[in-house]
Amino acid sequence: MVKKMKNISINKLKDFIGKEVQLNGWIYNLRSVGKIWFAIVRDGTGFVQCVITSNDVSSDVFELESSLTQESSVSVKGIVQEDSRSDLGVEILVKDMEVIHIAEEYPIALKEHGVSFLMDNRHLWLRSKKQYAIMKVRQNVIKSIRDFFDTRDFVLIDSPMFTGNAVEGTTTLFETEYFNRSAYLTQSGQLYQEAGAMAFGKTYCFGPCFRAEKSKTRKHLTEFWMVEPEMAFYDLKDNMDLIEEFIVHIVSQSIENCKEELKILERDITLLEKVKSPFPRITYDEAVKLLHDNGQEFKYGSDFGAPDEELIASKFDSPVMIHSWPHATKAFYMKRDDSDKLALGVDVIAPEGYGEIVGGGQREDDHDTLVKRIEDHGLPLSAFKWYLDLRKYGSVIHSGFGLGLERTVSWICGIDHVRQTIPFPRTMGRLEP
Ligand code: 4AD
Ligand code: MG
Repeated sequence: MVKKMKNISINKLKDFIGKEVQLNGWIYNLRSVGKIWFAIVRDGTGFVQCVITSNDVSSDVFELESSLTQESSVSVKGIVQEDSRSDLGVEILVKDMEVIHIAEEYPIALKEHGVSFLMDNRHLWLRSKKQYAIMKVRQNVIKSIRDFFDTRDFVLIDSPMFTGNAVEGTTTLFETEYFNRSAYLTQSGQLYQEAGAMAFGKTYCFGPCFRAEKSKTRKHLTEFWMVEPEMAFYDLKDNMDLIEEFIVHIVSQSIENCKEELKILERDITLLEKVKSPFPRITYDEAVKLLHDNGQEFKYGSDFGAPDEELIASKFDSPVMIHSWPHATKAFYMKRDDSDKLALGVDVIAPEGYGEIVGGGQREDDHDTLVKRIEDHGLPLSAFKWYLDLRKYGSVIHSGFGLGLERTVSWICGIDHVRQTIPFPRTMGRLEP
C-alpha cells in the first residue's frame, strides 16, 4: 500500500538549509561513486540530488541502490545542504529512504530516442526534464496572456466549441453529428467575440480550436489553443499597437519568470531580449518586394509559405507585422481599404523561423457588404444570420486578432516543433495517448 506523507516540495528546499526534511517523488537518475551513491529525485516542482553514504543511513537503505530503478517512487528524509554546483543550490544528505513502488524497466532511458517513439510514450515522456521545462513555460505564457487582458478591462467571453459557422474556410472543418443535424468543432472563436465586443467593448476568449489540417508540418496541430481578443472602435492601426504591446508583454514575462526553464532548454535568451517596440510594420507588397530583392521566387497574390516567412523574419530581430493583403488571400469577414483591393488584415511572423503566430485584422462592419462577402465565399447565409445582426444594431468599426499558443511557446522555448509544446498533441496521425 502506498503511504501518503506530508512533504516539502523541491522548489522550497532552499528555505530549509541545515534542517531535516521529508520529500516524496520519483527517481530521475541514479549513479554511484565508490561508497556513495546519488539519486536525482523529481517531484514536479524541481529536481534535487540526494546523496546516500553508508555512514548516514542504515545498511538496508544503503543496499537499496541495487534494487532501485529509474522512475521508482520514493519518500526521502534528510538534511538540506548548500550545493553551489547545482542549479537548485541545495542537495539532500539522506538519513532515511522508503521505497513506495519499484518501477518496471522504464522505456525512456535518459538517452536520445526517436520522436515517434517518444510521442507513442508521451504519457511518460512528460516526466523528462526538457518536457517539464516546456510545460512550465506554457503555463507561464498562459498566465501572462490572461493577466494582460484581465488588467486592461477586457471581459472574458468563452466562445463555444460546437458551432454552425465556418470561420476560416471550409477545407479544415471537423464535422460532427449533432442530434439530427451537423455541427462543426470551432476553428476560431472570433465571430462570438465580435458579439462580445458589441456588448462589452473589449472581450477575449482563450481555448482550444480545431482544424482538420492534412499537412504534416512543424507548425500545425489539429487541436491547438488560441487567444482571441476583439475590440470595438479599434481600427487596423490600433489593433497592431495592441498586438505589439501584447507580444512584448509575453516575451518579457517569460524572460523574467522562466529563467530556470529556459536554461534547461538551452534557449539563447539574448535573441528574446532583442524583441522590442516598435515592431517592423510592412505591407504585403513590401514583403513581396523583400522576397524578390533577395532572390526568392514568389507569385504575387499567394500566401507566404514557410521558406518565405523564414526569409522575411531573418531580416528583423522583432516579430514582423505584415498588413494590407490582397483580399483574395483573406477570410470573408475582413474589411477592405478604400481601393477595395486590399484586406485590412495583419499577420505577425515570429523571429528565427517560428512562423506566423498572429492572424487578425479589422472586420467588415457594413451589413450589405458583409452579406455580399458571405455569398462570394459560398457560405450559407442562414448560418450567419445572428452574425449579420451585429451590423444592424449599432454597428461600429472593430478589430481583433488570434495568437496561436503552441507556436508562441515553440518560439519562446526554441523548440522547432509545436507537438512538444502541448501536453497531448493531436495531429492527423495521432489520437493516442
Ligand atoms: O490566422 P488564423 O487562421 O486567424 C484566425 O483564426 C482569426 N479568426 C483569429 C482572429 O482574428 N480572432 O489563426 C490565428 C493563429 C495563427 O497565426 C497561428 O498562430 C495559430 O492561430 N494557428 C495554428 N496553430 C497550430 N496549429 C494550427 N493548425 C493552427 N492554425 C492556426
Ligand atoms: Mg493566418
